[in-house]
Amino acid sequence: MTPRTTDWWRHAAIYQVYPRSFADGNGDGIGDLAGVRSRLDYLRRLGIEAVWFSPWYLSPMADAGYDVTDFRQIDPRFGTLAEAEKLIDEAHQYGIRVIVDIVPNHVSDEHAWFTAARNAAPGSPERDLFWFRDGRGEQGELPPNEWQSIFGGPAWTRVPDGQWYLHLFAPEQPDLNWRNPLVRDEYEDVLRFWFDRGVDGIRVDSAAMCSKDPALPDYDHTVFPDPHPYVDLDENHDIYRGWRAVADSYPDQRALIGEVWLADPARFARYLRADELHTAFNFDFLGCGWDAPALRVCIDRTLAAHTEVEAPSTWVLSNHDVTRHVTRYGRPDTSTAAGIRQYNPVVDEDLGRRRARAAALLTMALPGAVYIYQGEELGLPEVEDIPADRRDDPIYHRTQGRDPGRDGCRVPLPWDESTESYGFSPAGAERPWLPQPTSWARLNAAAQESDPTSVLRLYRSALALRATESALRDSPMNWLDAPEEVLAFTRGDDFTCMINLSGAAMPLPRDGAVLVSSQPLSDGLLPPDTGVWLRTVRAVPGAVPGRRVLMPAADRAPAPGNVGEGARRAAVPANSPVGGAG
Ligand code: GLC
Ligand code: CA
Repeated sequence: MTPRTTDWWRHAAIYQVYPRSFADGNGDGIGDLAGVRSRLDYLRRLGIEAVWFSPWYLSPMADAGYDVTDFRQIDPRFGTLAEAEKLIDEAHQYGIRVIVDIVPNHVSDEHAWFTAARNAAPGSPERDLFWFRDGRGEQGELPPNEWQSIFGGPAWTRVPDGQWYLHLFAPEQPDLNWRNPLVRDEYEDVLRFWFDRGVDGIRVDSAAMCSKDPALPDYDHTVFPDPHPYVDLDENHDIYRGWRAVADSYPDQRALIGEVWLADPARFARYLRADELHTAFNFDFLGCGWDAPALRVCIDRTLAAHTEVEAPSTWVLSNHDVTRHVTRYGRPDTSTAAGIRQYNPVVDEDLGRRRARAAALLTMALPGAVYIYQGEELGLPEVEDIPADRRDDPIYHRTQGRDPGRDGCRVPLPWDESTESYGFSPAGAERPWLPQPTSWARLNAAAQESDPTSVLRLYRSALALRATESALRDSPMNWLDAPEEVLAFTRGDDFTCMINLSGAAMPLPRDGAVLVSSQPLSDGLLPPDTGVWLRTVRAVPGAVPGRRVLMPAADRAPAPGNVGEGARRAAVPANSPVGGAG
């Protein structure tokens, strides 16, 4: 068993498994728990410390499992509860903590509560668990208000007796009424159900959306209203105080991790106060373009907001809801301002992957926890040419394809060359639930395993270093003076991270011994779109943090080799000026 005595959630490297697409054990073309169990050693060798599983519960899969029929049962496509329990134990034996995904905003329309509510009369206690309302118009033929579903179309669906129910997502995902105490009790019980089975953390889906203004007022959709009728209501905090009390009732560390999409960092940080969630995903960072000044601002803003509430920052580049960052970084506009998902034929995949490699070293060197979305360690791009009739995401279908949806980041992983599905399923299996591009043959994990220059090997090296560098765990970061297009900072006395986002090679500090770099280095230069971790000499006592200067390349010795397994600690010249006060 993993000792659970430290605040692991403050600095862990956490890997997101999307169970449907990770590995298929039984050959039906859908990933499952047997598949995950067979790959735990891969995760251990990758060097991650925790796994977050996207929902694995009983579900009709109208939204790929985010429509839950029963939080206490595993969907038979994935396996059984007994298998989930085994998986949790096995993961712990490998030193890997387990995080499960809980969806409080809504349940499936097949959940027992909703079936009962649909069959009950208007005004009944069963209907009070959801948001049932009469419609507008003479016959109640118009929805109760103009709210739109996040997945496209109206946020209301009518039931046969004429009432309407609210669903901020798909119609198969009716929103719960969190003012009803039964809802609170039930979810706290679900948390206990999984904590009792040993899970170390809960990822809280759509965490800022649970509470609604009961007046259900219309609002102007062209501006973000303040207050918003269903985003970030103060009542949410009360819900998570209750959840925190549940988590804290366990003697060891159980963490709550929120999916909180809010533009205002101060509002975001309120979810991370000492008696609420432990951490939340950093979508501000995820949405930031490949642009050094913008990233610097984003990192500072993140750290400032978190410091205020003494919560650890998180660093996220991709997940199951957004275009994979290899593709995003290969686009002419790298920020998600251009649309979190977009149709854009112009993608330079090699450039995107090169930047993604550098970005990995950036995120893993920043203070806090880091999230890795399955396949990112293989440098997988978004799959943008999935035929319409193979697409599954309700976002694609409900917008009539105007939004490409999220299937492209959910394509089953390529493991090796053993089967037609690149090892995702065993031989003779059904075809994978989403088609894999043939270009993925060369990106499979086994091939990358034997290639020291692969993305996989870079991730492993960096994660191994991250786990042993105590500065990366506890020490604050200090920016170094550097050209605008270079992000350079120290952690602790002798660790420096430098990322070059400019179009030109930049000089490396002359005392730096390379621990790991995202591309080969030569002549003491850091090429464009490249990141490096360096062992630098200790700062001179009294040095002013943030004022250390990167030295020009002249008269510096060439840096030693680059991407290697583990650190290559070359001798550091004793008299190097880097690290002195600038
Ligand atoms: C979250 C999930 C997303 C899901 C939605 C509705 O944003 O990450 O995948 O569709 O909530 O549950
Ligand atoms: Ca399967």
